[in-house]
Amino acid sequence: MGHHPPVDDWTSDFDHTDDVWAADPYPIWEELRTKCPVAHTERYGGAWLPTRYEDVAAIAYDTDRFTSRSVIVSEFRPPMDFAPAGIAPPISSDPPFHQDARRMLLPIFSPQAVAKLEPSTRAYCEELIDGLRGHEIVDAAEGYAQHIPVRVIANMLGLPESDADVFRGFVNHVLEGVALPLEQRAEGMLSLFGYLQGQIQDHIDHPRDDLITFLLESELHGEKVDPFHVARTIGLLLIAGIDTTWSAIGASLWHLAKTPSDRERLLAEPELLPVAMEEMLRAYAPVTMARLVREDMEWNGCPMKAEEWVLLPFPSANRDPEAFEHADEVIIDRAENRHAAFGLGIHRCAGSHLARMELRVALEVWLDAFPVFELANPAAVRWSGGQVRGPRTLPVRVRR
Ligand code: HEM
Repeated sequence: MGHHPPVDDWTSDFDHTDDVWAADPYPIWEELRTKCPVAHTERYGGAWLPTRYEDVAAIAYDTDRFTSRSVIVSEFRPPMDFAPAGIAPPISSDPPFHQDARRMLLPIFSPQAVAKLEPSTRAYCEELIDGLRGHEIVDAAEGYAQHIPVRVIANMLGLPESDADVFRGFVNHVLEGVALPLEQRAEGMLSLFGYLQGQIQDHIDHPRDDLITFLLESELHGEKVDPFHVARTIGLLLIAGIDTTWSAIGASLWHLAKTPSDRERLLAEPELLPVAMEEMLRAYAPVTMARLVREDMEWNGCPMKAEEWVLLPFPSANRDPEAFEHADEVIIDRAENRHAAFGLGIHRCAGSHLARMELRVALEVWLDAFPVFELANPAAVRWSGGQVRGPRTLPVRVRR
């Protein structure tokens, strides 16, 4: 990150790519919630930051006044000519087009479809664990969490697993390279689409039983989907499915490594895992999305200008004491937990069943192999900043 000057005042000059935010954003949000619940910055051509659950939800539901034309804040605003699909449908599509673009994806991510992927996901997690055995200190992010979603999505889409490093590079560029100069950012996007177009052409020439072929054969408004739409949706699935799930797995392992009482409770009561997982998703929600303001307006007293960004920090909404009791505590058997980690409103995560399956299986396999583990060096843990936050370096000491 670090291409921007450091932040002095979070109320008037915030920057979500700042190293302080990456290391620990919770005190920033807490202060803003009481002092300045909707902050503003001139950076990125103007951006707003609501921090309360109520405001994040109101904006997420208000598709009339806030557009999803781009959901990643940068200096660049995508041109209007991509409408109505936008650059990565359905996340970049507004109603009414959004509903049809989203509907196309739903069968692929249904609970039944996801259940079929569980055995191969488990086998892959076990294979990764085998590679870690015999070491006293392992990196739970680099050596484990990051590989799981890449393999799952590559298999679903029908992309070669051997290209895993290529996808991770693309995703990293899109999500973490937001402060790069425009030309460098555009180059990265072009190479992603160049790669995807090659894969799509190969699937047009040689159809097979995978998601790319399924999308190419799908219909939208009575016609075969345009291959360019398919390329943009696949780009979205790579971006939406990899860093997010990697971050959720890593953050959960980080929590369990530093909280022996929760780890021991999960070993004693494994049936609690699905409930505990939701709490870790709430407390360490990885994803902040964004909208663009459609027209100049006054929103809750804020003078918003057309084409300004609005960040939607779902992780801050999840820590709002007005919405959750003891919001800053991780209570692994929290009974009521209507968290916003998967978003709110029409764009709510289409891959949430898949994400939950990957997270549960990853944690089950890890706890089975390494019931006792702790942070090897808390100071060495490194978190990604920007809109998808999770541990990228996570050294843990494991014992059998
Ligand atoms: C723990 C992991 C994940 C988290 C926390 C997460 C979070 C989110 C959030 C917050 C949104 C809302 C975006 C918005 O309002 O603009 C979203 C949308 C989306 N996610 Fe996820 N996601 C995760 C995993 C996945 C996976 C594994 C996939 C599929 C491979 C996926 C596919 C999508 C898609 C397609 C959308 C757009 C839905 C629409 O616009 O209708 N996500 N996700």
